Amino acid sequence: MSINRSLSSVPMKISTLVMLLFLSLGTQVFAAHPDVSDAEEAIAAGKSIFNANCRTCHRLDQKNVGPALRGVTDRHSIDWTKRFIKNSQALIASGDAEAVAIYNEYNQLAMPAHEFLSDDDLLNLLAYIEYGDKADASASAADGESVEGGAAGGSGVPSEYLTIILGVLVLVLILILVVLGLIISILTKYLNSQKLDEDDEVFINQKYDFAKVFRSDAFIIIVTTIVIALVAKTAIDELYTIGVQQGYAPKQPIAFSHELHAGQYEMQCQYCHTGVELGKSANIPSANICMNCHMHIQNVDGKDGISPEIQKIYNAVDNDQPIEWVRVHNLPDLSYFNHAQHVAVGGVECQTCHGPIEEMEVVYQHSSLTMGWCIDCHRQTNIRSEKNEYYDKLVQLHSDSKQPLKVKDIGGLECAKCHY
Ligand code: HEC
Ligand code: HEC
Ligand code: HEC
Ligand code: HEC
Ligand code: HEC
Ligand code: HEC
Repeated sequence: MSINRSLSSVPMKISTLVMLLFLSLGTQVFAAHPDVSDAEEAIAAGKSIFNANCRTCHRLDQKNVGPALRGVTDRHSIDWTKRFIKNSQALIASGDAEAVAIYNEYNQLAMPAHEFLSDDDLLNLLAYIEYGDKADASASAADGESVEGGAAGGSGVPSEYLTIILGVLVLVLILILVVLGLIISILTKYLNSQKLDEDDEVFINQKYDFAKVFRSDAFIIIVTTIVIALVAKTAIDELYTIGVQQGYAPKQPIAFSHELHAGQYEMQCQYCHTGVELGKSANIPSANICMNCHMHIQNVDGKDGISPEIQKIYNAVDNDQPIEWVRVHNLPDLSYFNHAQHVAVGGVECQTCHGPIEEMEVVYQHSSLTMGWCIDCHRQTNIRSEKNEYYDKLVQLHSDSKQPLKVKDIGGLECAKCHY
């Protein structure tokens, strides 16, 4: 267990790295994995355990909710580390000095127990923690890039611009009128001060006939055009937005930020939205899920006392009252939408439909959620048929066609699939 850690930071071919870690960790970690390719497998297996159980709070090279984990087996013995991961609270309760120290350093935030991890699991985990990908950060950046912009739905008339242009035009017209009026009155005064013959004087001082102007054809045409344009614009805007709530961002009872939790702390969506791969509904987390962390995180940036926003979580739990989150996305009752079908089977990213949630302080509705939006995507998107036995037959039957199978080919445009 005495590998030179500076060596592991030198970039080198995977194969050399694997050799090295095999030699160094030697019998202790890889007792159950007698050859080199097994070491790679161990790291991969460790990675999936890590992503499923630890990534919510830990990164390999950065501090997150919990400490950065790479090098943990230099700081503690392997045996200690395994016991800590399995049940840190038991170790702390036993008075173990190392465990108590790290517990206090992290404001006595309780790490969940992982009794279900077998000894093999733990060794795989440690292999990943010590030698797993260094590109932790760039991997998640790449995830973000795969977001498709195309399915976001049309944007409609850029109505803010139209309104501004109309307003400016009206202002300019009024200004021109005022200036003209001024010029007329100055000229009249000037001419009156001159010596003029009678005819001219009458002409200059004649009363301006407004009634005639209002009755003139030109005036009537201009006014009717403006009125018709205004009415038409309002009507079009209204038609575009009937039943469509795109951009809807209601104020929530607690100032919960996805930008902070899912963005900065990179928590996985599934940690809170537990239903998303299992069934129809994604689920909004109960206050108990918040309490996993907020039992101990009471304020931001090390400020003292309890933040008023976090106090609201405590109140909800104490009074056994659910937090009344305001629903953002809402399809009408006549339609059926299933998350698991899209996320687990179809492999569609949350962001394709919900937009960059991890950058939102306040969640807003990114897509139009109209029937046309659903159908457009079903026309364009290929189904994910690899590793899905259900589609084997279909793909075979379809193999004479050059086009890959789209959602529309499996019935994605049938009324009854989306309507009860
Ligand atoms: C809910 C958040 C959370 C989860 C999930 C979590 N941890 Fe932790 N972990 C912590 C915190 C916080 C600490 C700091 C010690 C404490 O407060 O108990 C910690 C400490 C540790 C330590 C000691 C590190 C050191 O430098 O002393 C290890 C090792 C560790 N965690 C491994 C894991 C592993 C492996 C998993 C997944 C199987 C995991 N943790 C899941 C929050 C978590
Ligand atoms: C720490 C818990 C947590 C995490 C992690 C989290 N969310 Fe949320 N999410 C919530 C809560 C609480 C709400 C309800 C309050 C709100 O709308 O902000 C919510 C609301 C939403 C909504 C709007 C639901 C509605 O009312 O229509 C969407 C969409 C959503 N989350 C998507 C995501 C995605 C995508 C991710 C991952 C990138 C994610 N969430 C990560 C807790 C979480
Ligand atoms: C995995 C851990 C974790 C979970 C689960 C979690 N949070 Fe947080 N939360 C944090 C961390 C870390 C911070 C930032 C603390 C800091 O900046 O020092 C935070 C900050 C906050 C803040 C900001 C407080 C303020 O005064 O600005 C609010 C509000 C909040 N969380 C609400 C929630 C709600 C509501 C839930 C449940 C839906 C939740 N959190 C779930 C870890 C978590
Ligand atoms: C194919 C588009 C699509 C994808 C992909 C998608 N959603 Fe949704 N989501 C929707 C629609 C549509 C609704 C509204 C459902 C309704 O009103 O019945 C919704 C609603 C929600 C809600 C509100 C609560 C609920 O279940 O109705 C949450 C939370 C949510 N989504 C989170 C997520 C998360 C997290 C992911 C990724 C793991 C995700 N969604 C992936 C389209 C999608
Ligand atoms: C971003 C693309 C996308 C959007 C938007 C989308 N879907 Fe889908 N949908 C898919 C994919 C991909 C599948 C195929 C999943 C599979 O392989 O079963 C699918 C499958 C389905 C199925 C099952 C079809 C079948 O024949 O088994 C239903 C029902 C469905 N979607 C309803 C909806 C509804 C309702 C909406 C709009 C509220 C919607 N979808 C929006 C991509 C999308
Ligand atoms: C991929 C899913 C999907 C398919 C396929 C589908 N619809 Fe829809 N439909 C929806 C959704 C979602 C809505 C609600 C959207 C809204 O209110 O704008 C809707 C709304 C409607 C409405 C109400 C219109 C309104 O503006 O309120 C009617 C009528 C309708 N669909 C008929 C049909 C018929 C007929 C078919 C078959 C030819 C069909 N739909 C196929 C998803 C679908």
